Amino acid sequence: MTVKIFNPHWFYQGQLSDKDRNILSDTYDDFISDNDNFHNYWEESCNNLTSFRSSTNNSIDWNVFKNCLYSNITEFINEMKPRTSDVSIKFDGVWINKYKKGAYQEVHDHATLRCNLVMVYIYKSTGDECFTIYNPDREIDKLGLDYCFDTMNQRTISPSLKTGDILIFPSHYHHMVKPNLKDEERITISSNFFVGPSE
Ligand SMILES: [Fe+2]
Repeated sequence: MTVKIFNPHWFYQGQLSDKDRNILSDTYDDFISDNDNFHNYWEESCNNLTSFRSSTNNSIDWNVFKNCLYSNITEFINEMKPRTSDVSIKFDGVWINKYKKGAYQEVHDHATLRCNLVMVYIYKSTGDECFTIYNPDREIDKLGLDYCFDTMNQRTISPSLKTGDILIFPSHYHHMVKPNLKDEERITISSNFFVGPSE
């Protein structure tokens, strides 16, 4: 007899090739350096600058981003042991986030009917564990079992992230971006997408 584990939580972490990283820089550096492309969209809960729903966000070619990330998305899908030979991937928005010193994003999630996965690409890291994902199953916290046992209930994870890293995780996970404590700017590209069996 022993204690057994079921229903673990998961996320994907991968790394873009140097070649694809350079392609992204060549494509998006000019857009990123122009602050007119950015605004403080989530002003209640975040003070970072974002191109999310800015007037120019759709003026850039996001297919370059999708093509560069394709091999990592394929790796993720294969590791998830798909039940169908043909998984469809529908993007529901791509946008860029800039975090000057002191900028952050409060806890939020991306769950909608059109988004079951979130992808975050670290375009320029400031060398910190900037991203925290929360365990979505919080019911056990109410029971007080942690006072008696090692319940293996990991509440958060803050993966070590460097430039070129990619995270993919279910859209209902709560997550937050910690304040940037460095003088250099932290830059990420976020994307919502929906996967399902091809019709
Ligand atoms: Fe987010």
